[in-house]
Amino acid sequence: LKKIGVMTSGGDSPGMNAAIRAVVRTCAYYHVDCVGYYRGFQGMIAGDSTPLTARSVRNTINQGGTILQSARSKEFMTKEGRAKAAANLKKEGVDAMILIGGDGTFTGGQVFSKEHNFPVIGVPGTIDNDIFGTHYTIGYDTALNTVIEAIDKIRDTASSHNRLFFVEVMGRDAGFIALNTGIGAGAEEILIPEEDLGLDRLLDSLERSRRAGKTSSIVVVSEGDKIGKNVFELAEYVKENLPFYDARVTVLGHIQRGGRPSCFDRVLASRLSVKAVELLLDGKRDLMVGMMNNEIESCSLDQALKGKHNINKDLLRISEILST
Ligand code: F6P
Repeated sequence: LKKIGVMTSGGDSPGMNAAIRAVVRTCAYYHVDCVGYYRGFQGMIAGDSTPLTARSVRNTINQGGTILQSARSKEFMTKEGRAKAAANLKKEGVDAMILIGGDGTFTGGQVFSKEHNFPVIGVPGTIDNDIFGTHYTIGYDTALNTVIEAIDKIRDTASSHNRLFFVEVMGRDAGFIALNTGIGAGAEEILIPEEDLGLDRLLDSLERSRRAGKTSSIVVVSEGDKIGKNVFELAEYVKENLPFYDARVTVLGHIQRGGRPSCFDRVLASRLSVKAVELLLDGKRDLMVGMMNNEIESCSLDQALKGKHNINKDLLRISEILST
């Protein structure tokens, strides 16, 4: 193996730079060339690359976003797009690719690897934490801390005005961010896609909170929840049915994807990415690296894509007890 390529793809996440840095420095350590592709699969198709040396990634471990930029490439979903990418990699002399991203990235990588017999290794980077084969994805911890900081601020004003706040958080179809920040920020209720609380139970619970003497409340709503109303409709519905509540909505949105990565994400990104390069040098391919019980492990990309990373439903019970 003489040259390894690296790219970031899909929604960016804090710690992706720490991952790129670790790939580049591990390549340098083992005397293998490294090349970065911009904007994920899109850059592979366009042949938009840059050589990366140990010094190219100086002062990046602490930066949010991704120095290689990211994209969700529609063209890579076509055979023609992938053929262009394969031709570019061949021209550049790249022997294997390290793909930093989420399930969309791994799906593309797996198809590409089979179609062009090209070795790839996936490194899980997404704030959603929705990847099987790792207990944590790069960026999730930072996103949790960003959300907690925001909800703490919302709590201040909620309490000053005796208000009920619905705070929508990201996570796509998974409730990891909502569930954990809901507990961490002391929310009254947490709405997640994995467990539909139902409108009646939500009203009951808010009614009970009021009777228990609570003057302000926070409900954390996962963007993928299945309650059947968007967060604005939900706030209106609650206002109509429980008129004593003065409800407001905050959608945290993309601030959850930015910011300086936490120490946890930097260490996770570093450990996973060193392993990714070492697996390739060991002749392994089409795997995803992950951290299970604080050990760095790997599983096949196939397993990572077919498996489901389940939330810990006991956290809902904890939340119910503590919001009493
Ligand atoms: O997968 C990361 C994520 O931030 C999800 O939580 C969210 O649903 C989605 O990406 C938003 O995507 P976009 O940045 O394309 O709006």
